[in-house]
Amino acid sequence: MDDERLVELAFEARKRSYAPYSHWTVGAALLATDGTVYQGCNIENAAYSPSNCAERTAFHRAVFDGCRSFEAIAVVGGPQGQEASDFCAPCGVCRQVMQEFCDPATFRIVLGRSDGQRKTYRLGQLMPEGFGPDKLL
Ligand code: THU
Repeated sequence: MDDERLVELAFEARKRSYAPYSHWTVGAALLATDGTVYQGCNIENAAYSPSNCAERTAFHRAVFDGCRSFEAIAVVGGPQGQEASDFCAPCGVCRQVMQEFCDPATFRIVLGRSDGQRKTYRLGQLMPEGFGPDKLL
């Protein structure tokens, strides 16, 4: 599974987005260490705060399946019905969820745009001095 294919799977996941309030649709594809890919989309709610981001949908699906070891996540997003003309980086809450399960030094966050541009970060770059389970265990 190369990063390009992972971004493609994030674009595919974006089609499942339920975003009637923000009209901002996001897709994610999370690559587990065993090679399994878990896709996710954002799922909004009339009460707003129960809304879930695409990244967390993917993580929660994986953890429910018994998977807790990950290599990378691809994320794409933009206005509903439009191409992803800019990068859509994970929100702070999703970065914290990544910190729970991923090694900040190695876990890759691959951002994609419809024009083919890609940008890759390690979690530690987007979440410096992150507070993770290692602090408590
Ligand atoms: N959203 C994501 O799903 N992931 C991100 O990386 C950024 C934001 C969602 C949350 C909400 O449904 C919509 O995009 C607008 O914030």
